[in-house]
Amino acid sequence: MTTSPPVLEVVRDAAAVAHAAADEIQELITGRPAAVLALPTGRTPLPLYAELRRRYQAGHIDFGQVQTFNLDEWVGLGPDHAGSYARFMREQLFSHVNLRPENCHLPNGLAPDLAAECAAYEELIQRAGGFGLAVLGIGRNGHIGFNEPGTPFDSRTHVALVTEETREANRWSFPPGVDPPDRAITVGIATLLEAERILLLVTGAEKAAALERALRGPVDPLVPASALQLHPRVRVIADAAAAHHLDADARTRGG
Ligand code: GLP
Repeated sequence: MTTSPPVLEVVRDAAAVAHAAADEIQELITGRPAAVLALPTGRTPLPLYAELRRRYQAGHIDFGQVQTFNLDEWVGLGPDHAGSYARFMREQLFSHVNLRPENCHLPNGLAPDLAAECAAYEELIQRAGGFGLAVLGIGRNGHIGFNEPGTPFDSRTHVALVTEETREANRWSFPPGVDPPDRAITVGIATLLEAERILLLVTGAEKAAALERALRGPVDPLVPASALQLHPRVRVIADAAAAHHLDADARTRGG
């Protein structure tokens, strides 16, 4: 297998990012109905989930055999907590499409034995055959999932300490007065790098520096997303604001 650097595709805006990402997911599921997807939370994928809901309602995507694994979940939050990623996913996607509940996986943030929960989640991913497609966002400090700067590239599912900066960036998804936890369970970088394909979605000028460091900087655990340079099939879809530091590749379209 020859490796090739991540392909950067720049499109006009967040809606176009969502459209292009939904096209890839639709094509994958059409060709492989039991596809295994890794899914992100955050603001970035909101338009993607809206687009997937629309395509399901229009009869273009059948999620009946698809399996999903979320990248992460906050430690200490149950699935009904307003800030939990389980709730986010139900509201944004799961309850609107024909994904079977038993095929939608998230780490259990309330597990009494967190190490055992991490090992079990990793095992579940491996038993499913790993990720056919891992959809990722990126944090302003270059994190992917909750793999914060300094996380070893050989990491598996683990409990991560969430930086103050990342907690602040996530505050919008919590009710007023509720602080985001300082720990989360996250899929590790090694697990992500084993995905057959990776799709990184990046929108907004505040992500431009992180994207540039991830794609053009040295491969360095201090920039977790730079690990993506080690993977042979990474497609990055960025809007013009996020990509303004970068020359896009030949496949650039839109503006
Ligand atoms: C959180 C999530 C990440 C996500 C990041 C960026 O930290 N754990 O998976 O990529 O936020 O979020 P946003 O898309 O809101 O900028």
